Amino acid sequence: MTSVGIDAMEIWTGKLVLDLPNTFAPVKGEDPEKYTKGLGLHTSSFPDVYEDIVTMGANAAKKLMDRKGLTPADIGRIDVATESAFDNSKPVSTYIAGCLEQVYDGDFRHANKGERKFACIAGTQSLDDAYNWIKAGRNRGRAALVIATDTALYERGDPGEATQGAGAVAMLIDEDPDLVELSTEQGYGSMDETDFLKPNQQFPSVDGKRSMQVYLARMREALEDYESVAGRTHPDLFEYIPFHTPFPGMVRKAALLGFRHMTRDTDIEDDLEAEIGRQPREADFETWDDYEEAIRGYMDELKTTEQYRDWYGRVIEPTLDISSRVGNWYTGSVHIARLSALIAAADEGKEMTGKQLLVGSYGSGAQAEIHAETVQETWLDEIEAVDVDDQLAARTEISFDDYELIHDVHNHEKEIEVEEFTQPEAEFVFTGWGRMNERRYEYVE
Ligand code: HMG
Repeated sequence: MTSVGIDAMEIWTGKLVLDLPNTFAPVKGEDPEKYTKGLGLHTSSFPDVYEDIVTMGANAAKKLMDRKGLTPADIGRIDVATESAFDNSKPVSTYIAGCLEQVYDGDFRHANKGERKFACIAGTQSLDDAYNWIKAGRNRGRAALVIATDTALYERGDPGEATQGAGAVAMLIDEDPDLVELSTEQGYGSMDETDFLKPNQQFPSVDGKRSMQVYLARMREALEDYESVAGRTHPDLFEYIPFHTPFPGMVRKAALLGFRHMTRDTDIEDDLEAEIGRQPREADFETWDDYEEAIRGYMDELKTTEQYRDWYGRVIEPTLDISSRVGNWYTGSVHIARLSALIAAADEGKEMTGKQLLVGSYGSGAQAEIHAETVQETWLDEIEAVDVDDQLAARTEISFDDYELIHDVHNHEKEIEVEEFTQPEAEFVFTGWGRMNERRYEYVE
């Protein structure tokens, strides 16, 4: 069987940037360190007036197609993952295909298009769909375009407002991929939960604290399920572990839990015994609450150990860089965590060919998924071609007043006219509504 995975990826960030500790926190009357140290966020991306999930997705896809020298005839499938859709029937992928058809010869008439929804995990589910389509031999030699695009806005005043973000990730899924091969083995943790949802509303209803507990519970179940098919995991097996990153502080919690799980009954637990004792075992406690309390105590000590800090610094920290500068990209979030890690590896001159990543995706509502990825020989060329730093540096900084305006511009229930903050150049832009209330786009040279 040929290998299938991610051949290339590109991003498109919303073109505005809000400084969280210096602009947002003071107006909210909050300590800036809540952002930098607590949540792990420095800045977040916002879409300009003429940007939305279609323009960001189409712009990321165009970068990808141009770089890989693709035409519509090379693409047999376009899946868009989003939880910011504005239409309950016509999928965002049709809008994005329409944009791309304005600039390429040929069309996507014979490509299968769809839209995936399961909160943030839909991006990874779309990868799965593309993978399965290729593995089933239905692709006729063509590749799939997977686009994860979101404008992650919360109701003004909601605690989630601190974690907003906007951007798109485009990924090309193909046989003999140039970047990473996806594992056949996967694990799931999935339950009907009401932690974060948008019942016919643009902004989410969120139980923030509970959503963090649900994330951790589902992630643990997914890891156990993954191990039931792929065998025991061990911290030394994976060069990086990119997690879904609503904000880096969430990943700090997930990583600690993962490390404890992976080190149980291993040489690492033995090594740590003299310093912090062995991990509490449920059988040794009379009540679940006592066991939980003992686990919490163990974890508090575990996170201070040199072994854990060293592992976290090498395997987890490098996955968080982009996220700390753009906020939550929902469906794209775990994919920018992978990209962050590979950019860090390239910067450090690491040899990554054949190395494994363990990827932990999550979507509220709620489901976690874990799979492994194997880095391919041509990874460095692919990573060096992505201009993340340039894009992030080119964003235009907004004041708090500007932020309030831009939040209103993208609020579906408000109609306000606001001058654009930046000048579009060589990109797709939103131009207004058509006869049937469809959104319209054009390419600006
Ligand atoms: P909050 O109440 O504003 O913040 O809500 P907080 O007071 O809990 O502070 C946050 C952290 O900063 C805490 O760290 C504080 O201690 C620390 P922790 O105790 O948790 O380790 N802190 C400070 N640290 C240093 N110096 C200081 C300071 N002050 C505070 N001065 C919350 C935070 C995440 C709940 C909120 O932002 C929220 O509701 N966010 C939206 C929901 C969310 O992101 N949930 C994450 C899990 S669910 C998920 O990932 C799915 C999602 O992406 C959606 C999808 O799947 O579609 C959201």
